[in-house]
Amino acid sequence: MSAESRDVVIIGAGPSGLSAARRLRKAGRSVIVLEARDRVGGRTWTEHIDGQMFELGGQWISPDQTALLALVDELGKETYPRYRDGDSVYIAPDGTRTVYSGEMFPVGESTQSEMERLIGILDELAARIGPNSPWDAEDAAELDSISFHHWLREQSADELACENIGLFVAGGMLTKPATTFSALQAILMAASAGSFTNLVDDHFILDRRVVGGMQSVSVQMAEELGEDIVRLQQPVRRIEWSETGVSVSTDELTVSAGQAIVAVPPNLYSRISYDPPLPRLQQIFHQHQSMGLVIKVHATYDTPFWREDGLCGTGFGASRLVQEVYDNTNHGEEQGTLVGFISDVNADAMWALDEESRRTKILEALAEFLGPKALDPRVFYLSDFGAEEWTRGAYATSYDLGGLHRWGPFQNDPVGPIHFASSDIAAEGYQHVDGAVRIGTATAERILGEKS
Ligand code: FDA
Repeated sequence: MSAESRDVVIIGAGPSGLSAARRLRKAGRSVIVLEARDRVGGRTWTEHIDGQMFELGGQWISPDQTALLALVDELGKETYPRYRDGDSVYIAPDGTRTVYSGEMFPVGESTQSEMERLIGILDELAARIGPNSPWDAEDAAELDSISFHHWLREQSADELACENIGLFVAGGMLTKPATTFSALQAILMAASAGSFTNLVDDHFILDRRVVGGMQSVSVQMAEELGEDIVRLQQPVRRIEWSETGVSVSTDELTVSAGQAIVAVPPNLYSRISYDPPLPRLQQIFHQHQSMGLVIKVHATYDTPFWREDGLCGTGFGASRLVQEVYDNTNHGEEQGTLVGFISDVNADAMWALDEESRRTKILEALAEFLGPKALDPRVFYLSDFGAEEWTRGAYATSYDLGGLHRWGPFQNDPVGPIHFASSDIAAEGYQHVDGAVRIGTATAERILGEKS
């Protein structure tokens, strides 16, 4: 066991922890970042599978994600837009496939106007309630006590409109069934992205990617900090704390410091033992923030064949196994790559199958959107963050029904010298890499006394 001493010890080398370390170093503080895995980047991860580069975790940036865009720029990295020339495909609950252009799904006129009306209501709520303290809204308790699924059906009798709008938050973002989280949680998701309109606009929300992959942002931050600061394969097991400081232990190392930043997703807080135990409030509410589950499907083909058919590769089907599909061809590559998403209960069903049946079913689901050529990829891979010990789900955590207004007000409070920072408890950029950069930087500034 070796011992070290720093001003601040940071647990987790994802974008939150590394952004905090970077900010503290800039101000001249001594830091150490203890990372459980043998790599940095957390839920951002670029891998080569059978020679093909895939971004297994977070990858897209939207135009409002200015903290991340500024960081990418500062690091001298380039971004590129997602390919989206051509028509999209919509599959209705009865399996009817329609090729369409524009933003609105090709559903009947009255369903279209119901969807527009629901988007309008959600935009107003997101603008009024905002991302910073949704629990302060006068109707927070009410909106937090009803599931998003039931709230939508209180607003509209059009089942298809409710299902389609539900998709953007349920399968699309929180990756939980819309019956399991509240309307307030859905409004926070929209407010943190600027508006509900932004969430439903794939051109906006899935705008750009980083050349070389999003993980390279963390890799570069870690390289700049250096190996003496960023220590890999150091899962933190224990934090002893008092009002004056912390002693943080891995299996090999104990670091004493004035303050600690726990930059891991809330579902992993309880993997660390605290001595003395965290206060009752934290012990309770940390149990009510849970990860969703999504399978990110990667399939690479000799060519992006859908483009020859005039399709951009985008497909939506709220009732399908793969609910969203996009062209995810890497910058400068001739081969074409598709990415699809299989969320919550559909993901459960897929993991229950043997590998061959799972592959067949998923490729058939892609072919529903883009035709039979989708059945025969050169490389096929499924991101499985649910099986990753140091994440345990995807994309991020959210509260169960009623939790956001009850415990949200305390989620960002430090406990003595222990601060918490991850995209899961960010306001703007909630659930996204941008939120991780924002909360990491803001937590460092709070420690520096520059922010309350
Ligand atoms: P993150 O989880 O990234 O990092 C936490 C780190 O802490 C990890 O490295 C972990 O190993 C480490 N750790 C945990 N416990 C520890 C312990 N006890 N001791 C030491 N280390 C410990 N976002 C986006 O902006 N655009 C997108 O397109 C997507 N898409 C997407 C797809 C998929 C499949 C996933 C899983 C996620 C996304 N995201 C995304 C979300 C995005 O990746 C996520 O919000 C950020 O990576 C969160 O960064 P943090 O640093 O907060 O946590």
